[in-house]
Amino acid sequence: MPARPIVVIYANARARRSHVNRPLAEALAALPDVEVRDLHARYPDYDIDVVAEQRALSCADTVVLQFPTFWFSVPPLLKLWMDEVLERGWAHGPGGTALRGKSCLVVASTRGTEEDYSPEGVHRHPLASFLLPLEQMALECGMTWRPPIVIHDAYRLDESGVQRVIAEVMGALGHGDADGPANAANAASTAASLELA
Ligand SMILES: Cc1cc2nc3c(=O)[nH]c(=O)nc-3n(C[C@H](O)[C@H](O)[C@H](O)COP(=O)(O)O)c2cc1C
Repeated sequence: MPARPIVVIYANARARRSHVNRPLAEALAALPDVEVRDLHARYPDYDIDVVAEQRALSCADTVVLQFPTFWFSVPPLLKLWMDEVLERGWAHGPGGTALRGKSCLVVASTRGTEEDYSPEGVHRHPLASFLLPLEQMALECGMTWRPPIVIHDAYRLDESGVQRVIAEVMGALGHGDADGPANAANAASTAASLELA
């Protein structure tokens, strides 16, 4: 497969029951300059091919981390991916310059509402606070941290809500539609779907 400037690292252990992440990953996979790497489809046994992952990242300008929030953090396979792929001497530390200058965009969904993730809400902090370790990881690797896209209340999104999310993410990746976000999303929803876990 030729190099794609946008690589989406997608981790969702419950992808078959996914409400928003799966259609989003499929829509992104249909874009010509995007490669979606579905970690659970590639590594069901959690045996990550570090060289292949590093090669994919090397060719990218933008790295998207797409995942459902699990216990205010990333799903375990994404954590393992970070631990193994972002090696010292490659991604950070002495001589670790492979990701320098690339952009990092997090797209994270939550069951909790925006209100839940407010000072008055049950989770007390905005989701951005729980993403601080990822932000620091990106900065440690010399990457540019972009404002995360948070999909709150994921289970309550109706079809048009899911399409709005797809349009927002596509717009952030430079695939906005001059005729309006709905059209970009509709185009994506009719595109061929990738085989995802
Ligand atoms: C093990 C587990 C832990 C979860 N932890 C959280 C959490 O800390 N905060 C939250 O808002 N949602 C949490 N959720 C809900 C998921 O984030 C939600 O199912 C997901 O964002 C929905 O997206 P999807 O339907 O596309 O998978 C958790 C779900 C599971 C299965």
